[in-house]
Amino acid sequence: MCGIVGYVGPSSQLADERGTAAGHDALDVLVEGLRRLEYRGYDSAGVAVISDGTVGFRKKAGKLLNLEQELGEHPLPRSTTGIGHTRWATHGGPSDLNAHPHVVDGGRLAVIHNGIIENFAEIKRELVEKGHEFLSETDTEVAAVLLADTYNDLGDQDLTAAMQVACRRLEGAFTLLAVHVDHPGRVVAARRNSPLVLGLGEGENFLGSDVSGFIDYTRSAVELGQDQVVSITADAYEITDFHGNPAEGKPFEVLWDAAAAEKGGFPSFMEKEINEQPMAVEQTLMGRTDPDGNLVLDELKIDESVLRSVDKIVVVACGTAAYAGQVARYAIEHWCRIPTEVELAHEFRYRDPIVNERTLVVALSQSGETMDTLMAVRHAQEQGAKVVAICNTNGSTIPREADAALYTHAGPEIAVASTKAFLAQITAAYLLGLYLAQLRGNKYKDEIAGILAELETMPAKIQQVIDAQGAVKDLAQSMKDAASVLFLGRHVGFPVALEGALKLKEIAYIHAEGFAAGELKHGPIALIEEGQPVFVIVPSPRGRDSLHAKVVSNIQEIRARGAVTIVIAEEGDESVADYANHVFRVPQSPTLLQPLLTTVPLQIFACELATAKGYDVDQPRNLAKSVTVE
Ligand code: M6R
Repeated sequence: MCGIVGYVGPSSQLADERGTAAGHDALDVLVEGLRRLEYRGYDSAGVAVISDGTVGFRKKAGKLLNLEQELGEHPLPRSTTGIGHTRWATHGGPSDLNAHPHVVDGGRLAVIHNGIIENFAEIKRELVEKGHEFLSETDTEVAAVLLADTYNDLGDQDLTAAMQVACRRLEGAFTLLAVHVDHPGRVVAARRNSPLVLGLGEGENFLGSDVSGFIDYTRSAVELGQDQVVSITADAYEITDFHGNPAEGKPFEVLWDAAAAEKGGFPSFMEKEINEQPMAVEQTLMGRTDPDGNLVLDELKIDESVLRSVDKIVVVACGTAAYAGQVARYAIEHWCRIPTEVELAHEFRYRDPIVNERTLVVALSQSGETMDTLMAVRHAQEQGAKVVAICNTNGSTIPREADAALYTHAGPEIAVASTKAFLAQITAAYLLGLYLAQLRGNKYKDEIAGILAELETMPAKIQQVIDAQGAVKDLAQSMKDAASVLFLGRHVGFPVALEGALKLKEIAYIHAEGFAAGELKHGPIALIEEGQPVFVIVPSPRGRDSLHAKVVSNIQEIRARGAVTIVIAEEGDESVADYANHVFRVPQSPTLLQPLLTTVPLQIFACELATAKGYDVDQPRNLAKSVTVE
């Protein structure tokens, strides 16, 4: 997930003709837009402006501040036209070279990009055969060279037409913005499965990943549709589809102020990130199969013979990431038949774990900087184990030190309470499990394809759960004075219960505990008294009926002792209705994939309850987003 901004203002001649003041300096608009969009990514930033028939550009690894320093030391000329980018690295680590814009064709064309181009390797091969050279490891440079090649092949100096043709070759998710020396007052952009909004000013026009990119200048905006190309000048814009047919965007007025705009109109980053979960799962799944339907994990650069000889998997992680690991264990053991342990990273090395060359250690971390997890990685490597990092932050320490990294593509997670990263971690761990099952022959190709097809349906199902959040929020509001909330689950529902309790503890400061439902009668049931709220995550009745029946019995047992039962159950599961004070439904899905759905109401509940108590859900007390000390 990257931040993108584009600007075209009036030339001084145009301003004179109109008798209006000159527009803004493009650079001011771009840097201000990037500041507002930096929440979307901060691995590197860059700008390109057209001035005096050349593309002037600066780009720098690290936060926007580094780019600003660079611009201070090496200023760019005043310009009316430019593009800017703040990057969340996907292909190619965060470096000056991989930063956007990518300037190609002898410095004539500059391109920025948000998204993942799935077929970049194939296009790159073709372009290399045509004699093109590449400087970076990015998929973006491939798109830029393809656009330049198409522009030159068409030969009619039509950047918009070249963009349409080039986009027809691209697969995956992308927003592209381009400026060309032949078109000093124009920015051409395109989008597929990735956001792009047009901002309409007085004699100046803007583009942004979202309205926060230009909110300081206009509130009049147009949402671009899927597979559309837009070409903007200072006083006009034209929208087409990828075949050049005229198309229309959706005009709207921005009602938020600038601060709210960064959060996409949500009151908090946490709420925004909960709502981004369908996208986080979808992007994590994207580009993982080849044309024959085989699962390919390009990033997993560990020798296949080593992966085939693995006889034990140990997942190390902390907090929410450790619960993602617990979910992963059920799936990996079931699909791969490899014994799998999950261990809190800070406990791992102090108990002298039995780890050797045949152990695969999987380090789960959103930030990639958690010191406890990093130390566990180092300890495992010292014992000869190979380490795969599942991480959301490209270029961070854990994936850099690991033997291989599998990135989640959830985009930056700003709120301290992890939400979309959790679902993305589970998704990536499923992919790892399926990949190992494919490699080791534990599952037939059609079985793996079947599970992948189910996974592909999950983003839409998560969206359904999010769409039904009103009832969960109402309950949270009514329970804001609760002193304690318990969570019960079995099988994959157990780590979901633990995660539900953690969310409530960390942002609402309420005592909360998650239990394995089977453990109730071994102690925790003594906590149940009249009015005690208890969430119960119910497994699917389809396929695992004995598991389901046991959880239904647990609900009866606690209800009989006065608990207020809040049940999360599959659509169509009527067996819970008689014992539930409240029921929240999730769409039907295979049991192993259910955590991607059942977690969501618990996140919404915690976020709403904490908000109702007046707490800052993004920055809860005593906590930090990235725990870089042991
Ligand atoms: O960045 P990581 O995934 O390594 O962080 C691990 C935990 O610190 C983190 O998940 C923490 O538990 C969250 N605040 C929970 O919401």
